[in-house]
Amino acid sequence: MSGLFVTFEGIDGSGKSLMLKLAAQKLRGLGFDVLCTMEPGGSPLGQKLRSIILDSPYGSVDPRGEALLYAADRALHVANVILPALDAGRVVLCDRYDDSSYAYQGGGRNVELADIRKLNDFATYGLRPDATFLLDLPAETALSRLHGPKDRIEQEDISFFEDIAGAYRRLAAAEPERFYVIDATSDIKEESAIINEILLRLLKASRP
Ligand code: TYD
Repeated sequence: MSGLFVTFEGIDGSGKSLMLKLAAQKLRGLGFDVLCTMEPGGSPLGQKLRSIILDSPYGSVDPRGEALLYAADRALHVANVILPALDAGRVVLCDRYDDSSYAYQGGGRNVELADIRKLNDFATYGLRPDATFLLDLPAETALSRLHGPKDRIEQEDISFFEDIAGAYRRLAAAEPERFYVIDATSDIKEESAIINEILLRLLKASRP
């Protein structure tokens, strides 16, 4: 049996982690075997990489180096965590995946998309999500939701996040059969109900 691989994407402050948590609660309540995971840092060694990537006290990081670090984390995550869970027939809900690299390192840091694609095809063994929720909202609204200490990426200015939000919208427009664009400015309960309904439809279709 093969599982279902669903990713949640959006700029910092889009609320995707909360939506993922609510979706997992709902699916588990219905008896589905759900794995919640995240990038960067979804594997034991990836946890180390996460702190290297995000807490870096080394000043600015070369964009290609940054893309490679995220890809290294992704390779470990796919091989050690995601593929085994999918092989076991589990529903995998993942907070960020390769679209984050296309949006952040591509749209935000101007790394060539073709290079990121090559790198990610290698890192992921070609594994793409079955479905992706993009939580879409203006960068200004998203940033106003961030509280507490900011990591290296969150310290960027608003135009960086506007570029990333635009890149996400282009990714979604290019693959409308995979992406579900969710209005992340709406009521949390409504948003979560829309996502859960789509997930249940996908699960029904994948397990007739
Ligand atoms: P995290 O604290 O997980 O942010 P969030 O809760 O918003 O997901 O930090 C992940 C940061 O790393 C976030 O700013 C997005 C960035 N990122 C990339 O730039 N490229 C990537 O491939 C991934 C997975 C994340």
